[in-house]
Formats: sequence, C-alpha cells, structure tokens
Amino acid sequence: MPTEYPRSDVDRILSGLPLEDRIRLLSGADKWHLAGVPSAGLPPIMVADGPHGLRKEADGGDHAGITGAVPATCFPTAVTLAASWDTELLTEVGRALGREARVEQVAVLLGPGVNLKRHPAGGRNFEYLSEDPLLAGRLAAALITGIQDEGTGACLKHLAANQQETYRMVIDTVVDERTLRELELTAFEIAVREGHPWTVMTAYNRLNGTYCSDHAWLLQDLLRETWGFDGLVMSDWGGLNDRVVATRAGCDLEMPGSNGTFDAEVRNAVAAGELDEAAIDRSAARVIELSIRAAAHRDAEATFDRAEHHALARRAAAAGTVLLTNDGTLPLDPDPLADVDTVALIGAFARSPRFQGAGSSQVEPTRLDDLRTSLGARLDDRARLEYVPGYDPVTGATTDQLIADASAAAEQAGVAIVVAGLPGRYESEGFDRSHLDLPDGHTRLIEAVLATGTPTVVILQNGAPLLLPWSDRAAAIIEAYLGGQAGGSALADVLTGAAEPGGRLAESFPVAASDLPADAYFASHPKQIEYREGLLVGYRFHDTAGVPAAFPFGHGLSYTSFVYEDLDTEQDGTDVTVSVTVRNTGERAGSEVVQLYVRAVDSSVWRPDKELKGFAKVALEPGESERVTLPLDRRSFATYDVRQRAWLVEAGSFEILLAASSTDVRLRATVAIASEDQPTPVTAPTGWTADDTEFAAWLGTEVPTPDPVQPFHRNTPVADLDATPLGRRIRQLLTTAATREVARTVPEDDAATRRMFESVISEAPLRALPLMGGGRPPLKAIDALVGLLNGRVRGRVSEVIDQLAARRDQ
Ligand code: BGC
Repeated sequence: MPTEYPRSDVDRILSGLPLEDRIRLLSGADKWHLAGVPSAGLPPIMVADGPHGLRKEADGGDHAGITGAVPATCFPTAVTLAASWDTELLTEVGRALGREARVEQVAVLLGPGVNLKRHPAGGRNFEYLSEDPLLAGRLAAALITGIQDEGTGACLKHLAANQQETYRMVIDTVVDERTLRELELTAFEIAVREGHPWTVMTAYNRLNGTYCSDHAWLLQDLLRETWGFDGLVMSDWGGLNDRVVATRAGCDLEMPGSNGTFDAEVRNAVAAGELDEAAIDRSAARVIELSIRAAAHRDAEATFDRAEHHALARRAAAAGTVLLTNDGTLPLDPDPLADVDTVALIGAFARSPRFQGAGSSQVEPTRLDDLRTSLGARLDDRARLEYVPGYDPVTGATTDQLIADASAAAEQAGVAIVVAGLPGRYESEGFDRSHLDLPDGHTRLIEAVLATGTPTVVILQNGAPLLLPWSDRAAAIIEAYLGGQAGGSALADVLTGAAEPGGRLAESFPVAASDLPADAYFASHPKQIEYREGLLVGYRFHDTAGVPAAFPFGHGLSYTSFVYEDLDTEQDGTDVTVSVTVRNTGERAGSEVVQLYVRAVDSSVWRPDKELKGFAKVALEPGESERVTLPLDRRSFATYDVRQRAWLVEAGSFEILLAASSTDVRLRATVAIASEDQPTPVTAPTGWTADDTEFAAWLGTEVPTPDPVQPFHRNTPVADLDATPLGRRIRQLLTTAATREVARTVPEDDAATRRMFESVISEAPLRALPLMGGGRPPLKAIDALVGLLNGRVRGRVSEVIDQLAARRDQ
C-alpha cells in the first residue's frame, strides 16, 4: 500500500520531542484515543470496535458499550459473513463499515478477527471467520480492503492463538510450530499480505510461554520481517504484559491508556541501558505515522445513507444464510403455499431476534427487522401468519402452556416455522460454551412441533455450531447464524424465495463435541492449553479420521442445482491453473461456491486428508454456465518444515478435488509436481491426539508444566487469590466492588454481558486492574499486594485489610 505522507514529516516531528513525550506516545491517551502531538498539530486519533459494525462509545459509555454507543448499521456478524464465501461482498461491507467510521471521525476500526475456530465451543467463534486458514485469511483481507478503501484503518486481531475465552488473559497456548504456521498463522499471513491492514492487535494469551504483546518472534521476525507488515501493533485492551519487553519486541502501543502506568519502568530501563532508545523511537514513529495517515483521510463532511447500508446488511444476511436440509418445503413460494392457508411462526426470536454476539463487538443498530413483521409483509394475503412465542427470548426457557400453544398452532397450520437458537447468555466474548446443545426449552419446543406431523422448518439463530439430534425429522433447517439488524427481513426473503440461501458452512458441525480431538484439550486448564490435536481441526479431522461431521465444512443447499464439467489443469512448475465449468441445471437463479481441495497422494510428511486451496462464488441464471479459474501456487502444495525453517514441497502426485463441500467431491484430477525439496519426514501420531512423547517431539522440547498458583505475581488471576486466607479476603474486596459496578451499569436482562464481566472479574490477572482502570490502583500497589500475599510483609497490612473488609460490610 502506498504511503500517503512523506517520511521526513515523521522524522521531523519525532526529533522535536523529548524522551518523556516519545514515551507518552507508546500508550493511549484514554480508552479509545491515541496520544496526539499537539505541538505538531496532530490531534489524538480515535479507534473503536468492531468487526461487523461501529461501536463508538459516546461520552460516559461503559467498556462493553451497553450504554451510550452511537447507532450504527449492525451488519451480520463474522460467522454469517464468512458463510457467504464471497470476497466481493465482504469488501462491500468493509466499505460501508469504513464509511460509517469515517463519518464518526473514527480513524481505525478494531477488526476483523481472524483467529481460527479450533473448537465449536469457543465463546467468541461468532466474531471469527472460519476453521480454515485460507478461507479466513482471504475473507479478512477482503474486509480490510473495503474498510481501508474508505480511508479508515483496519485492525487485524488477535495475533495469535486467541482461540478460547476461558482465562484468556493468562493462559499459555502450547502449540508446535508446524501447526501454528499451517493453521492459525497462515490466516494472519494471508490477511496481512493481501489486505495490508494499517494496524494489528496482539492477543491476550501467552504463546509458548511468552505473552503475545512481548513476543519478538511473532511481532518482529514473522509479522514484520517475513510477512512485510509496515503498520502499527497495539495491545488488546488491558493485555500489555511488560512495556519494556513489549517495546523491544515491537508492540508499539498500549491500549487503552493507563495514565502512564508503565512510563517510569520504560524511563528506568533506558537509563539503565536495558532498553535502546531507538526501540522507543521506532514505536513512537509508528504512532505518528498512523496519526498523519488518519489526518490525511479526515473528512468532516462525510455522510452515509442509512437505508442503503440497511439494504446491504439484508443482502449480506441472505448471502450468509445456510440451508442445511430441505425436503422441498422451501422456498415457500406461491406453489407450496397454494395448499397452505396458515403458516405457524413459532419462537420468540421471530419477534426479538438474536442478531449479534455480546461483548466488545456489540453494536447499537440503526433499526431492527423482525421475522414476524417481515414475513407477514411478504406473505401478504396469500397465507395467514399465526405467531406464538414458544419460549422466553432472554432465558430460552419454556412452559407447558407455551408448548401447548405452539403445538396447537402447528396442528392448525399447513407449515410450521420454528425459530430457535442460542439466547445471548449462551455465547459471548469473555466465556466459552460448556456444551453445544440448544437450550432445553428450544429442544422441547422443536420436538413438540415435530410431533404434530405438520411439515416443520427450523430456523437457527446462533453464533457457532449446535448439535441437532432431530435434524432428519425437520422438513428443512436454515442456519441463519447472527444476521445483523436486517436478519429478519433477509430470512423472510429466503423463506419465500425472494432471495436464495447463499451460504455454505465455513466450519464443521460435529455429531458430538467429544468426537473432536481438541475437545479434551479445550479450556481444560486455567494456565495452560495444549494443542495436542495438531492439524486435526474441523474438516481436517473429520476427513482424515473418517469420523463424519453432522454437517460438513463447505456444506449448504441451494434452491437450484449445479453440475461441474470439463475440469482442466495447466501446469507451469509448481503453479497450476485449475479450470472447471459450473452449470446451473435448475429452474431458479442461484449461486454456487466452488471449492478446490488438494490431497497429497504419496507423502513422507504426514498431512491431513485434504486441504482447501482455492474457492470461488459464481452466480448463475437457470441454464447458464461459467468457466471458473482457480490458481494454485507453490504454497498450495507445501508443508512447513520446522527443522529446515521453510515451506517445502515434496515431489509427487497431488489430487485436485473440485467439490461442493469437503465431503462432496464432484470432479478430480491428478497432477505430478516436481521439486528438489527434501522435507523432513513426519509420521502420523498413533492416535488423533499426540501423547506426551509425540507432543514433546512436535514441540522440540519437554511439554511444559503449568504455572503453579504460588508464589503470586502480577499475572496471578484474581481467582487464584483464594489459595490463602488473606488472598481470599482481598479477592472478596475486589470482586464485591466490581460486581456492584456491573450491577449498576449492565441491565439485568443482559445476562451475556453480566456473565462476561463475572468471568473477567475472576479470570483477569492483577496487572489488568491498573491497565483497565486508567492507572488505578497503581502498578506499585499491585506489586506491594503481591509482596504481601507472598508473605513478605505481614502484620500491619493485614490489619488494614481487615479494616477495609469491616468498612465494606457496614
Ligand atoms: C477485545 C478486543 C476489542 C477491545 C476493545 C477487548 O476486550 O478482545 O477485540 O477490540 O476489547 O473493546
């Protein structure tokens, strides 16, 4: 990306600043602003969430944006956008996001998140794109391109391996380099190389022992030197571990500002010769560069058209809607409706939709469509719409009476539509799901309606895979995911055939969580998570192990049908151009997602059964066909060789599979790839997870032992204070105050946000208190507390704690 400002400006501004001011630039001015350089006419620039809509807190808003966020278009969440497999659409949505940010004078939008979905229970999966790195990386790049086309910076997050919420600020993710490179880091690499984001955000967690904010290999060797990233790196909110180490490692900016919490440590490190001033200058220069870049794009006159953005959100929601099953009941267009005089619409989400996830990405929508109103308008007077709630939309609970009403409505109707899914409290940033089931109330409702024998369409609103044991008894299942503010009208479009269900799963739906090798190693320990499943994530597992998914990666039905014809490959060394013709053989217009997987036929390096290496979405009128060309390059055939520190291609035969899902291969060809590389052989693990010896071999070192609870330190999570009587008293003091604050600011019916804060309060490290609290209590007080807890100071301080506790209890 061309730089729009002369480098000399940055140098000039920097050289005029005393050390103290340069250090100040390394942390934010407040929760959402960077420190500007007023002497050089550079005002503080603003950053704001988030991936599917702008969450700009108005003055006085709380961190979760529950109060006071400026209304903005709530586009479908990342999981829904990803199911469109449509890079052009994501660029279009990105442009709208960038535009809205610009109108609100927000210089950088904090998204997209590209972390791979390692396990379907990840609480934040709704905010991430896929289980596959190529798909996630390309879609993220498309979104970034759109955002930045409008002169707003994007922030690619969270680098790296932030794949669970449980203890996210302290866990050490233990993962071997091959797995890291071939999965998670490939997604980031594609997003950086193709999207050129202005900024990148580090993850909260540790990666093989080092906090991501302090990780020189990740931020310097890989991100900047190998992938060519030339922007600014910021910490996640409250996630900077050690300002001195992080500055050395290349984490430029601490966010939010913590009132100079670390400034003294940085100054002292410079004075002691432990930190090179050049490292400070390097990061300060990036803050200045970003501020100049933002100033160049500032436009006080910018506007956007709310209706147009709403229409785009509606189109995007339909494009990401996945038709999982259909016996022909859908679409409900005039023909089937001819025999139907009543449609029973069952489920409170039809009136109060679940349309986005909870946490930092929660947007205040400009308006909100609901299915009941939209479907009523679409059906017009062709059929009567009878609505019954079936359950409570906040808790998901049902009653005998609600079930009886739903059954009665279904019995009277020609078609029943049940809208079910996950209420907000089931999934959010801040905690993981404990199971993959629907709420009992929803399952009971679905079973009762199915038992009436009326053809039943089930619509699901949720952010991540569910278990659907009744699936073969439903007439049709629509996975609508979280459709954003226009999800209701988009669903009415899809149900009636005014729009096609354009989505294909960007993740696998397992039959049971326990099928997955990652399951035993997901959220399994508060301090350490071991990726013993290696590469066997999602379809890489199902297809390699022969353990079928309930609904495979890439799956999604259409209202029309397609054939694949005339597969052709052209080869130039390791570059292979694959061409195939796709023909719409049905009677409706529709789009198909052509998926290209590569399988190594004979390989001395153990690999998953097949991997996605290309895809394209084509829209076709009935009878129309299109020639689709998909390029493969050297990397499409390569594996990462840890010993030789390189991507290597082993000579041999590779199958090229053209498919409509990871299990629905339509055409295949074999190519012979020549290569001089001699990859180090890798044998398959004896089971689907590595045992201690195998895991140690993958890691190239002993499997680390999780940190002990004691001695306490800055990164001790608050929950661990319970280990001593004094600690327990301090924890009570801390949590009582925090819980009171949550009760005061978060509405009672917003259970997801309340749960998120509960997790944060007990799982956050002590260090996060000043970092999230604007510098209070000061870090020195945290250090003193740690000393006290470790028994270095007793007596008087203990008395003080008793007094504080007594005061609180009064
Ligand atoms: C989240 C980030 C978000 C930031 C600011 C953090 O808790 O992890 O994704 O951008 O808060 O709201």
